[in-house]
Amino acid sequence: MSLIAPSLLSADFSKLGKEIQAIEKAGADLVHWDVMDGHFVPNLTFGPCIIKANRAQTKLPFDVHLMVDRPDKLIDPVAEAGADMITVHMESNARVADCVSHIHSLGKKAGVSLKPHTHVSEIIPFIPEIDLVMVMSVEPGKGGQPFQAQALEKIIALKELIGHKKVQISVDGGINPETAEACRFSGADILVAGTSVFKAKNRTQAIAALKGNK
Ligand code: DX5
Ligand code: ZN
Repeated sequence: MSLIAPSLLSADFSKLGKEIQAIEKAGADLVHWDVMDGHFVPNLTFGPCIIKANRAQTKLPFDVHLMVDRPDKLIDPVAEAGADMITVHMESNARVADCVSHIHSLGKKAGVSLKPHTHVSEIIPFIPEIDLVMVMSVEPGKGGQPFQAQALEKIIALKELIGHKKVQISVDGGINPETAEACRFSGADILVAGTSVFKAKNRTQAIAALKGNK
């Protein structure tokens, strides 16, 4: 069974609080925040103030994905805003090991994300330290892109590298009922889905379909 983390990138930004409550009611397990800085990716989205303003809308954990050039500068503010899990990019301009220990010192779960062209072997030194690996199955920056199938090989390779250690594998981008099934089969623990949840007519059914429940 995989957990479903709807990405607010595809939500209606004019009513984020209501969107968060709606996905909780629809069966979401986590709330995924795509923080973008206009440098690491062209787009600009939410920052700590918006995350904090919505913390009281739900009891679900906040899964914060930092698509920013200097995640080290945002760890304190997003933790203070109510993040439960904070994921930094391997390709960012920060020292990933320092970010991971900083996140842990604040009592939060630490994740590291890999862009589609970053090889899984790069994560090996971090596996003993982290709680989560996030495999990007699209280029970071925008929702609604098609799933890149090489992510499945990465999940399988990561599963092998992780072995019995307690590191979750998350997959982000292009998740729909078909790609979700392939990711679950390959060993993903968390599926991040924007378009297929928020644009669905019935979000409860959409989340159930991603979990493989008819
Ligand atoms: C992409 C983001 C994803 C994205 C997923 O940069 O990290 O979380 O919102 O959106 P969909 O599900 O539409 O691919
Ligand atoms: Zn994301």
